[in-house]
Amino acid sequence: MSAAASWDAVDALFDERLIGRDAVLEAALAASDAAGLRAISVSPPQGRLLELLARIHGARHVLEIGTLGGYSAICLARALPADGSLLTLEREPSCAEVARANLARAGLAVRTEVRVGLALESLDALAGEGRAPFDFTFIDADKANNTAYFERATRLSRPGAVIVVDNVVRGGRVADADSRDASVLGVRALLDHLARRGDVRCTAIQTVGSKGYDGFLLARLAGPAA
Ligand code: SAH
Ligand code: DHB
Ligand code: MG
Repeated sequence: MSAAASWDAVDALFDERLIGRDAVLEAALAASDAAGLRAISVSPPQGRLLELLARIHGARHVLEIGTLGGYSAICLARALPADGSLLTLEREPSCAEVARANLARAGLAVRTEVRVGLALESLDALAGEGRAPFDFTFIDADKANNTAYFERATRLSRPGAVIVVDNVVRGGRVADADSRDASVLGVRALLDHLARRGDVRCTAIQTVGSKGYDGFLLARLAGPAA
């Protein structure tokens, strides 16, 4: 079996045994596909990881940058308590429309808001709105803006908040110091930024699976020890 086929087979096994049939997420993917959205949502095991991280952290107010059809938003919103909230930012009105319908079908519309616009502008507007602070952020939009998103998320976060960044490995291309790929440069700029900052407890974990070879960066902002 090729490496990629084996990653797929193991993901299928984990998906079946550990995640199980999930009519809500399957319907969200079907609706996203029917609307012509790109199939780049987090995988089922990755989505469950996001849910578990938010639950383990006790996240109440979650921010997401990059909604697409709302797959990861559903996973994150499921972790919320009844008085929790998820705000997810999306550039494309057509994606936001699909995501809103998917979140409504999931019964999560009351706790979630999909906001259309360039994420940098939405984040700047949020600073004056009194919605912050957030205690968990998932960054998964245009990778060239990763550092700007991380900095803005930091400013909108409470001490001790968690920030997760998707797609920090890109098939290993992140290690290519000569890369001219805007996404790779965006990830490398974030790594440089975090190295310079030095005040954020971080790691990144390489992953393989149905989405190929990629990875997540996890960060906890300085804050209370507990
Ligand atoms: N988090 C989603 C996948 C997001 S894909 C999931 O796992 O289910 C990335 C999304 O970011 C796309 O929908 C894209 O339209 C959006 N995006 C890209 N650039 C953006 C920007 N500048 N502002 C807001 N959204 C952006
Ligand atoms: C792409 C973007 C993503 O957020 C992802 O998880 C996978 C692929 C992309 O733009 O190719
Ligand atoms: Mg992604």
